[in-house]
Amino acid sequence: MTTDTPHHPKAQTQELDLANEESATWLFGYGSLIWKPELPFIQARPARIEGYVRRFWQGSEDHRGTPEAPGRVVTLVPDRQGQCHGVAYLVSNVDIEQTFAQLDHREKNGYTRLTLSLQLGSETAPERLKAVTGITYIANENNEAYRGPAPIKQIAEEIFYSVGPSGTNIEYLLELAEALRTRAIDDAHIFALEAEVQVLLEQS
Ligand code: SIN
Repeated sequence: MTTDTPHHPKAQTQELDLANEESATWLFGYGSLIWKPELPFIQARPARIEGYVRRFWQGSEDHRGTPEAPGRVVTLVPDRQGQCHGVAYLVSNVDIEQTFAQLDHREKNGYTRLTLSLQLGSETAPERLKAVTGITYIANENNEAYRGPAPIKQIAEEIFYSVGPSGTNIEYLLELAEALRTRAIDDAHIFALEAEVQVLLEQS
């Protein structure tokens, strides 16, 4: 084994990252974009945003429910002390307009784009953070499909019974909970809902 030409895969990766970032855009996903991104991304990183929490407060009339019986999906709710962990995707600017067109359609039921600061980690060192500017999709309280807060048991029941063109609302919740667990992301709101829905599933 030679020692005079050390291999530094990490250093190379860092350089590549920097080269990519100049001609690419960071997108932050915190809901279905974590477990079903369907994006042409160059890289995905653990990421955190400050000043928001993830809540099942947005109605879903086109994916996990119908206009007559809306389901519930997550949005970001402002919370000065709060933070939300998710995934940041780096998308080449060559692909970005097409990506926004697809996401604008996918998130059309109440979401708008928001530019914000992301704290990026890496899979091997999620705590080693770097700040970048990114874009996320947020449904705020003045959109027509907004549902807002409700007791956990009530939200769980709404999720339990809702189905839309993209599938059951239960699938959306359970996939999200599993994706968070896989990434060691703790989220009391999501895991409380998951537990309530599991009880309903066992009783059914
Ligand atoms: C997101 O995943 O970042 C937005 C909300 C959703 O589509 O579930």
